[in-house]
Amino acid sequence: MAFNPENFIKEATSDIKTKVGKKRAIIAVSGGVDSMVAATLASKAIPGQLVAVFVDTGFMRKNEAIHVKEASEKVGIPLKVVDASERFIGKLEGVSDPEEKRKIIGGLFIKVFEEVAKKERVDVLVQGTIAPDWIESGGSGRQMIKSHHNVGGLPKNMKLELCEPLRELYKHEVRMTGKALGLPPYVFERQPFPGPALAVRIVGEITRERLEIVRDACAIVEEEIDSASTKGKMERPWQYFAAIFPSKTVGVAGDERIYKYTIVVRAVRSLDGMTANFSIIPHEVLGAISTRITNEIRGAGRVVYDITNKPPSTIEME
Ligand code: XMP
Repeated sequence: MAFNPENFIKEATSDIKTKVGKKRAIIAVSGGVDSMVAATLASKAIPGQLVAVFVDTGFMRKNEAIHVKEASEKVGIPLKVVDASERFIGKLEGVSDPEEKRKIIGGLFIKVFEEVAKKERVDVLVQGTIAPDWIESGGSGRQMIKSHHNVGGLPKNMKLELCEPLRELYKHEVRMTGKALGLPPYVFERQPFPGPALAVRIVGEITRERLEIVRDACAIVEEEIDSASTKGKMERPWQYFAAIFPSKTVGVAGDERIYKYTIVVRAVRSLDGMTANFSIIPHEVLGAISTRITNEIRGAGRVVYDITNKPPSTIEME
């Protein structure tokens, strides 16, 4: 049966009401479509009982805290911004293993949350977990590919009750729901962004320098691809970003030898993130991205484009 967003909104709103009752709930708003849709549903279902929090982990996209605050306030959700960036960066500096990164981020995220929740006297945690998050985390007897952080990072002794209204939905259904809820297109059309954020786009060891490089590179990729697709030069990919590889390569600037990091540009077509094909990007656009990255980012010396599909690859590098 085709997904009907209006029916889903009715059912989800009534489920949230039943689950939360008279208690107070908290939600982490990341600015992504999943958490914004979950927050909007919850604020409709339990008005006055919801605390929406944006935790700045320091691994977010450029100017993310400002954008998310503006976006959520536009749809009537007041947002509490908690700057926990030093705590996250401190714990993640030097960590290389992708699953360890996810576990640290997920664990600390919940810890920061529990601190805010305690202050706010909240009992329920509303999360924007969607179906691929738990399916690929090994739910229902499936093999684990990646422990997506909404699932894998939850500590066993978590003190908050969980409410996951989008658990059975796929991304395109979440977008349809967002549209039906009256959210603006820049929210419901926003490309997906992983929970562990830029930490899984720093392939290998996390350092502050590499974090800043990948943040700037992601911003350039987004700007150039947004601009090219708005002008009709290419189809807007389902997801598009940059990642940084761990090793440096040799280059030349003027007469001098340089030794800098390699940036990988990733852009894919997909319906739900479960499978994906790499996007066809005009050479002119790739050239503009490469020139900007190597000119504007001091630590970047080479740019490559990822031409693998999922499977066998995944969308993120880690
Ligand atoms: P992969 O890399 O598994 O990505 O092909 C599929 C989709 O999921 C996002 N992704 C994550 N989302 N926590 C999340 O909330 C994670 O740990 C995580 N890992 C990947 C990815 O950006 C893509 O949209």
